[in-house]
Amino acid sequence: MMKHDFPVLKNDRFLKAARGEEVDKIPVWIMRQAGRYLPEFREFRTKHDFFSICQTPQYACEVTLQPIKRFDLDASIIFSDILVIPQAMGLTVEMRPGVGPVLPEPIATPGDMSRLKKPDVEKDLGYVGEAITLTRHKLEGKVPLIGFTGAPWTLMGYMIQGGGSSTMAQARSWLYKYPQESLELLQLITDIIIDYLVMQAKSGAQALQVFESHADYLNDELFDIYSLPFLKKISEQVKLKLDELGIPRVPMIAFPKGATLNSLERLAKTEAYDVIGIDWTVEPSDARTHLAKTTVQGNMDPCAMYASEEQVYERARKIASQFSKKGYIANLGHGILPDTPIASVEAFIRGVHSS
Ligand code: CP3
Repeated sequence: MMKHDFPVLKNDRFLKAARGEEVDKIPVWIMRQAGRYLPEFREFRTKHDFFSICQTPQYACEVTLQPIKRFDLDASIIFSDILVIPQAMGLTVEMRPGVGPVLPEPIATPGDMSRLKKPDVEKDLGYVGEAITLTRHKLEGKVPLIGFTGAPWTLMGYMIQGGGSSTMAQARSWLYKYPQESLELLQLITDIIIDYLVMQAKSGAQALQVFESHADYLNDELFDIYSLPFLKKISEQVKLKLDELGIPRVPMIAFPKGATLNSLERLAKTEAYDVIGIDWTVEPSDARTHLAKTTVQGNMDPCAMYASEEQVYERARKIASQFSKKGYIANLGHGILPDTPIASVEAFIRGVHSS
């Protein structure tokens, strides 16, 4: 199969750290590293709208490579969005400038769930697979390529709220008002995610990250019922299906942003994920104690990138040294913000690599 005859990987620090092996230098990548803080991305966006970049493999590939060309990063992440799944399920998703994603016809009540379809991921989301395969070739083995998805609860939040929200009140209300239907919706999304991630690995993704960006809104009880079982099932099923297909397993990363320390610990105890991402509110020492055997990814505050270059460098070094060259992947504690100085990105990477 020509398609899977990929170039040999030259920098495997990220994959080694994900597997818990010791590395020569701490690997670093940045969530949203292909994004608006890059002038070349903003330039590209004047010519193409957001979802056409996602849907056109050559465009997605070009944008994915932008930060790799500029910086000494140890991993790339395919350019896409978590909301391509609700789109494939039949919902309209618009990316509005200055607002973010908007779903004009959200799922307001359980009755609206009949409007959702279970997509054929190979067909309806095949463009993501093609973008991954093309990007693997164009990377020429420079760094590994990460694929990703939104987690079920996070996607359910957007589908019910119709966009971002500071409270997720409607989505959270569902969990109390319609517990059974909530579980049904989460299960439907979970089944799609499993097929979607398997497709990404088949296409050449070398690690898979599951963004549970809305873990913030869940207390331990809600996390236990509405997030954890689905996160666990996703990883277990993806591994099982890859085994069945004879495709090598890839490291699985969960990023439950804003999850409590209890919830993080319970997630680590399942041993479902090779890597757990933490945001900047978690102390490195607590992460080490509570997530003992799992590789940790994170967690500098994206706003710390607005300090001076020297301070960014020192902070990155300090965080990295609180972990070690084993079981740690450096990143920010959430996506990089659109007006972050380029010099801060360089200082962050240098700081990590020097520690
Ligand atoms: O990390 C990367 O470089 C890969 C690309 C990537 C994007 N979105 C591109 C994007 C990834 C991994 C995502 C994931 C994503 N998308 C998440 C999970 C991570 C997180 O932030 O918690 C979420 C919640 C979304 C949904 C989403 N997409 C939001 C809330 C927004 C608007 C926020 C904003 O910055 O405007 C988007 C838009 C989006 N996704 C942009 C990019 C580069 C900016 C839109 C633009 O170019 O106009």
